[in-house]
Amino acid sequence: MPTTIRFYEHGGPEVLRIEDVDPGKPRPGEAQVRHRAIGVNYIDVYDRTGLYPVAALPSGLGREAAGVVTALGRGVRGFRVGDRVAYVWPIPGAYSELRNVPAERLVKVPKGISDEQAAALMLKGLTAHFLIRRTYRVQRGDTILVHAAAGGVGMILCQWAKSLGAKVIGVVGSEAKAELARRYGCRHVLISGRDELVAGVKALTRGEGVAAVYDSVGKDTFMESLDCLRRLGIMVTFGNASGPAPPIAPLELSRRGSLYLTRPTLFNYISTRAELESAARELFAAVRARKVRVVIGQTYPLAQAADAHRDLEGRRTTGSTVLTL
Ligand SMILES: NC(=O)c1ccc[n+]([C@@H]2O[C@H](COP(=O)([O-])OP(=O)(O)OC[C@H]3O[C@@H](n4cnc5c(N)ncnc54)[C@H](OP(=O)(O)O)[C@@H]3O)[C@@H](O)[C@H]2O)c1
Repeated sequence: MPTTIRFYEHGGPEVLRIEDVDPGKPRPGEAQVRHRAIGVNYIDVYDRTGLYPVAALPSGLGREAAGVVTALGRGVRGFRVGDRVAYVWPIPGAYSELRNVPAERLVKVPKGISDEQAAALMLKGLTAHFLIRRTYRVQRGDTILVHAAAGGVGMILCQWAKSLGAKVIGVVGSEAKAELARRYGCRHVLISGRDELVAGVKALTRGEGVAAVYDSVGKDTFMESLDCLRRLGIMVTFGNASGPAPPIAPLELSRRGSLYLTRPTLFNYISTRAELESAARELFAAVRARKVRVVIGQTYPLAQAADAHRDLEGRRTTGSTVLTL
């Protein structure tokens, strides 16, 4: 029977249980995918803790994976048994050996991209894509600030933004991560807890501030991030690694130079098949052109998903984290 990770109550990594669950035959419109690699994301932590409510308990976990199509439900067009595919899908359940997924959410994985890379790219890479290509279209010559620059999303985003001609200032939690961030796209790196963020950014931008801040840390950094922006800059708060960002009055934006503020989510940017295909095409092309190197910092067997969560929350991971089968 295929292995699945589920949880029956919200809580710490210890609530994750290893179970045998048969997904059954794919229904009309679905493809059955035998996973070969599964992406671990911070959003999985929010699902597990209950910060993002799941539809029902017990719940599966995980939103991105790569594998091979093993069966097709009625009416599926464009895919065949044996195709190498990957997906990101908002319903948790990717931490499993075998899963039925709506075929319209699958993309074919091109040659030259491994299963592990594809599993790391669907959620994190497509997030980097919408952040720098759509939420704010990064321009050549822009200086941008990226928190968690040595993390999964951060490392992809920083490299890609650099290839678009931006100067990237990264923020990381340690000297070892600073070294990595420099190697993967950052021109300058500030270390949280050691360097003063606002003063550091002002010093690096001749007092002007940055065009965009990409802040996935949330609570601990949100207000300081606002102070790092230049006039008419955009604050992109897209994660809650330290807790949700605080509410603010619109006047705070006006006082700091008529700033823009957005709180985007990937699934709103890839809700149509055309959007998903176009974003995935651009992402895979950037990887194949080596503008973006996918760094898988650590892998864990599926059964050790709880350890992956402990390391992710403990800030001990770098780059992407993948569960193997
Ligand atoms: N809105 C969206 O659609 C979307 C999509 C994907 C991801 N995200 C968000 O993007 C962020 C990155 O996701 P990821 O999966 O790639 O994770 P990640 O960046 O690999 O891991 C999180 C990193 O956040 C930093 N961090 C700072 N304060 C922290 C704290 N108090 N607790 C834990 N970590 C802290 C740590 O890096 P340092 O040690 O270097 O500080 C840590 O390594 C997450 O906030 C996630 O929710 C949002």
